[in-house]
Amino acid sequence: MEYNKRPESMERITTPALAEAFIEEQVKEVRAQVGDKKVLLALSGGVDSSVVAALLIKAIGKQLVCVHVNHGLMRKGESEQVIEIFKNGLDANLIYIDATDRFLNKLVGVADPETKRKIIGGEFVRVFEEEARKLEGLSFLAQGTIYPDIIESKGVKAHHNVGGLPDDIHFEGLVEPVKFLYKDEVRVVGKALGLPANMVDRQPFPGPGLGVRCTGAITRDRLHALRESDAILREEFDKAGLTDKIWQFFTVVPDFRSTGVRDGKRVFDWPVIIRAVNTVDAMSATVPELDWAVLKKITDRILSEVQGVCRVLYDLSPKAPATIEWE
Ligand code: XMP
Repeated sequence: MEYNKRPESMERITTPALAEAFIEEQVKEVRAQVGDKKVLLALSGGVDSSVVAALLIKAIGKQLVCVHVNHGLMRKGESEQVIEIFKNGLDANLIYIDATDRFLNKLVGVADPETKRKIIGGEFVRVFEEEARKLEGLSFLAQGTIYPDIIESKGVKAHHNVGGLPDDIHFEGLVEPVKFLYKDEVRVVGKALGLPANMVDRQPFPGPGLGVRCTGAITRDRLHALRESDAILREEFDKAGLTDKIWQFFTVVPDFRSTGVRDGKRVFDWPVIIRAVNTVDAMSATVPELDWAVLKKITDRILSEVQGVCRVLYDLSPKAPATIEWE
């Protein structure tokens, strides 16, 4: 069997029973692979790394060391949820690193989207690497590699989840228990492991996080407006029963202002842009016709609850020519 090929005999995991069988088999395999040694995992809170964490906790408990790096570009409540579920709920060996200042300081004045992405990705690897050096006796590196990652990287071992570690940090091997699974199967396994639906069914969230939605040079006040408006959007979509119906939705705070009037005085504040799209594969996307009352409720709440914002817009642009994200 080729290392990177899903076995042809492998049944598609579509039911809780099939997920249970998969989990049982992986628990055995992981135990056989790592013995009594320690395993390191970068736990972002995304679907793949969360499912790998829950699976490995079941298999080897505290031999798994999870590191959650908060780069300061997470959505509201996201890091807190990771701590709540894994540390408090599953009693994980979890190291939480709040690297907000470090990331935001590096990003001061950086407006070019690709440079921002590179800084965020590069800094992430450095923080993770520093932590790995501090910890002793780590023999294995776990990754939330899934089958599409392997297919997309054409059979090259995918290190993308941690961005690649330097050669002088040596691991005996990789632990990649979901590497032959498709995304929908990872979600079924996650549910069978008891992870909450809002974590397992989560919409895609880019690695650079809110950094690509706070356009141009990121400032803390705009980032705050972005995080708060995004939380309002999610809350109102939830209440309107839209969360499961729309593929991806979020807000954007661009780096320009417009004139407004508040309490009889002129203000010069930011707009908040609502982005909502439906798609099958993210290669093209359409914009749903949202109920006016829902849009109005979100607009009213953002304008009254989020500081520094005087306008709310709905982005009507399909992909192509617009991309889903603004940067
Ligand atoms: P675009 O903006 O290219 O986005 O239409 C397509 C999908 O990819 C997500 N996306 C990213 N995911 N790192 C990621 O992990 C990134 O840098 C990144 N940029 C975009 C985006 O949210 C959408 O689902």
